[in-house]
Amino acid sequence: MSNFNTETVTAVRHWTDTLFSFTATRDPGFRFISGQFTMIGLHVEGRPLLRAYSMCSANHEEKLEFFSIKVPDGPLTSRLQHLQPGDTLLVGRKPVGTLIQDNLLPGTTLYLLGTGTGLAPFTSIIKDPDTYERYETIVLVHGCREIAELGYGEQVVAEIMNDEFLGELATQKLRYYPTVTREPFRNTGRITTLMESGKLQSDLNLPPLNRETDRVMLCGSPAMLQDLHQYLQHHHFTEGNHSTPGQFVIEKAFVEK
Ligand code: A2P
Repeated sequence: MSNFNTETVTAVRHWTDTLFSFTATRDPGFRFISGQFTMIGLHVEGRPLLRAYSMCSANHEEKLEFFSIKVPDGPLTSRLQHLQPGDTLLVGRKPVGTLIQDNLLPGTTLYLLGTGTGLAPFTSIIKDPDTYERYETIVLVHGCREIAELGYGEQVVAEIMNDEFLGELATQKLRYYPTVTREPFRNTGRITTLMESGKLQSDLNLPPLNRETDRVMLCGSPAMLQDLHQYLQHHHFTEGNHSTPGQFVIEKAFVEK
């Protein structure tokens, strides 16, 4: 049996010159935990060309959704950005990843801290009713350079808030904090700076970060992860993994160079 399923692209939306999202059919046998990623791609010159992508859709959704950067000379994304409905998409059968709830100890507030396409696993997590059962408050922070790059996240959050089933819970529990670094906006500054200064918590009317009650998931560039990792270690947060749950977990955003 092949290592991947052959799916059909059903919709594509371009958000900026460098960002797009797309949906595809989902094999009923493809199971994943919200927050995981899998290999996806295309046949190129007769061979599969695959890269790691987090599922943006929740595990209960019928379709699959992905959020991608466009790299002009990237082997996969230079082609993927031209996807059209009806095109074929290869989807690896083995989802994996550390941004899953079982890798975290129980807590009351979940911080989802993402930059750029590092938002992707968190959209899956905030669509999952299980997240709202586990936590009293879920804080989604999305850091980008420019306002236009927030578009996809803004749409997903608006859809959840208006969702027939999840809307009421999400309105009570989900706190969305978009921030940009390179133009004026209602929230500005890097996530690191907002955490270190406590501005994030004071803007959201939340208590200071506390390792007894707060859990953190990180997804972004290597530099962002390194800085936030250091910050959390400084506050004595322990990193969780599949064998030992902890107070925070990390995944690199999969950016094609
Ligand atoms: P900045 O504009 O100050 O570099 P990128 O597109 O480079 O991945 O950046 C996405 C967002 O992440 C930008 O707002 C960027 O801010 C921010 N960023 C970059 N490096 C870090 C870091 N080490 N810690 C926190 N945020 C970062």
